[in-house]
Amino acid sequence: MDDAIIIKGGKKLNGEVRISGSKNATVALIPATVLADGVMTIFDVPNISDVGALITLLNELNVKVTRKANHLIIDTENIKNVTLDHEAVSKLRASYYFMGALLGRYKYVKIRMSGGCYLGPRPINLHLKGFEALGATVDYDDGYYIIKADELIGTNIYLDFASVGATINIMMAAVFAKGRTVIENAAKEPEIIDLSSMLNKMGAKIRGAGTNEIVIDGVERLHGCNHEIIPDRIESGTYIIMAAACAEKMRIVNVIPQHLESLLLKLEEMGIKMNIGIDYIEVFASKNLKGVEIKTLPYPGFATDLQQPLSALMTQAFGVSKVRDTIYPERTKHLHELALMGADVEKESNSFTITGPTPLKGTTVTATDLRCGASLVIAGLLASGETIIKDAYHIYRGYENIKEKLKSLGADVE
Ligand code: EPU
Repeated sequence: MDDAIIIKGGKKLNGEVRISGSKNATVALIPATVLADGVMTIFDVPNISDVGALITLLNELNVKVTRKANHLIIDTENIKNVTLDHEAVSKLRASYYFMGALLGRYKYVKIRMSGGCYLGPRPINLHLKGFEALGATVDYDDGYYIIKADELIGTNIYLDFASVGATINIMMAAVFAKGRTVIENAAKEPEIIDLSSMLNKMGAKIRGAGTNEIVIDGVERLHGCNHEIIPDRIESGTYIIMAAACAEKMRIVNVIPQHLESLLLKLEEMGIKMNIGIDYIEVFASKNLKGVEIKTLPYPGFATDLQQPLSALMTQAFGVSKVRDTIYPERTKHLHELALMGADVEKESNSFTITGPTPLKGTTVTATDLRCGASLVIAGLLASGETIIKDAYHIYRGYENIKEKLKSLGADVE
């Protein structure tokens, strides 16, 4: 079957897996390169389809991109600010970071509406409010945003919600704005710190990333630099949960454990045995797992991106587990698929419960979105018999070489 991952479950996983560079950092860093005059080299770029789509968009802008092993060399010398109407825009959410980046550089951007996983409504009002506060006007016409300004002037911007995307887009729009921009109630995710550190290496003056107040003093120009992307905390979390579900002993390397504290504490509460190193985590086979309650919150709270993978493990825990996703309350499509495999799930108005342990049985399921796909991979590894995960393209958007990584751990995957 095309575009399906087929897993024969029940195998114990063993060995080591290396975590790739962070998807959600990469998808901000790539658009940010258009702010540079000069050559940028970015290391540990994951080979995932979202990166492919962003490279297509850089090429549309006449930016030269060379991939060597896992790094990208990006040369903006002949960049042209054309309308971004390529279908790649609608393949992912993060194409909208070209709004902030091109507005910042050219004071003008025309781009079609971006796409990405459906997780319920995903408005961008806070991004647009930030651009307007800097002096831009925003028009939406026939599927295209046109955002322009005579000049961008630094100001104080308060975000009603600490949105990751709005924080990143406003940072990029503000790097060349006159004077000082202060983003209050900014998002604190590690990917924002990574973007800030790359922009500062390029010559920007940004302080406070990682706190709820980010201060940006406008500069005249930015130059090229070298930058290595942080490890992907969501891919790390996914493999840690997978190990908790089906490993004898697994070592997950190239991780930053501090980025995963809320997950690691929950896993400990469930009874998972782990050894947490400086840049690695070992997970050991654990018995008699206990159900837990989680509530997803902005970083450093429990990540919404990990509630779906954790749901698969919850099916194996004794008692009732409860999940409340306050970021995306409608991020529950995985429940229908897990139920097809035998999970005991119940949706409530703004939460859901999983009662376990229940044996899972392989069947045909659909990856309705990226992290639903990750959840089904874990469920498939746990299940008896064969699990066919359709629409696996969602999974390749965010997990580099997932089949190869799983095979090297001893999984039976095609
Ligand atoms: N929101 C608004 N208005 C806005 C922006 C956001 O109301 O203008 C709301 C959203 O509807 C949502 C909440 O604020 O309820 C959080 O949205 P946020 O802007 O923080 O998320 P995002 O930038 O759209 C990024 C990640 C997501 C991750 C969230 C939360 C990228 C490309 N995406 O999305 O990652 O779930 O932050 O941490 O960085 C994934 O990797 O699977 C994924 C979906």
